[in-house]
Amino acid sequence: MASAIVSALHVLALALGLPSVYLRGRSLRGPLDAEGMRRLFAADTLWGAAALLWLTTGLLRAFGGIEKGRQFYLTSNLFWTKMTLFAVILLLEIWPMVTFIRWRIARGRGLWPDTSHARALYLVNHVELALVVLIVFVASFMARGFGRG
Ligand code: HEM
Repeated sequence: MASAIVSALHVLALALGLPSVYLRGRSLRGPLDAEGMRRLFAADTLWGAAALLWLTTGLLRAFGGIEKGRQFYLTSNLFWTKMTLFAVILLLEIWPMVTFIRWRIARGRGLWPDTSHARALYLVNHVELALVVLIVFVASFMARGFGRG
């Protein structure tokens, strides 16, 4: 039962994460007026929530003794590929995360943040999106025992 619930939450993170990172990208391309900023921050909040949900449910699935057992994953090359790709997303996310926190603070003070890097942030955003899609394929092969020595 725990396995089914945690598995459902892991999939829900994908249902939450993919649209939110896509919409965050769209907001970055659209006009960054007050309404555009509001959309950007809403998508960014959901993207952050999805990342947290992925990490907590993923760790539970891998090491909580509710799936195939930690040994299965620790000895799977595809598990480590997946972890590396996830880590790359987290590293790529540092710049947007810090930037959007600054933008939120500026807007909260009634100021207008410098959005001149929006185009570069859009590119980083879409690399993250592509990596999520790639992870789904890696995860599906991993779950079926591919990539084990
Ligand atoms: C972008 C982040 C992630 C995505 C898109 C993702 C996607 C998926 C998908 C689609 C599955 C189902 C595979 C299947 O049964 O066909 C899955 C399973 C799984 N994921 Fe993730 N995941 C992510 C992050 C993580 C993280 C951070 C961890 C661990 C720390 C993790 C650990 C697992 C485990 C243990 C399974 C179960 C595999 C099995 O059934 O044996 N995932 N993931």
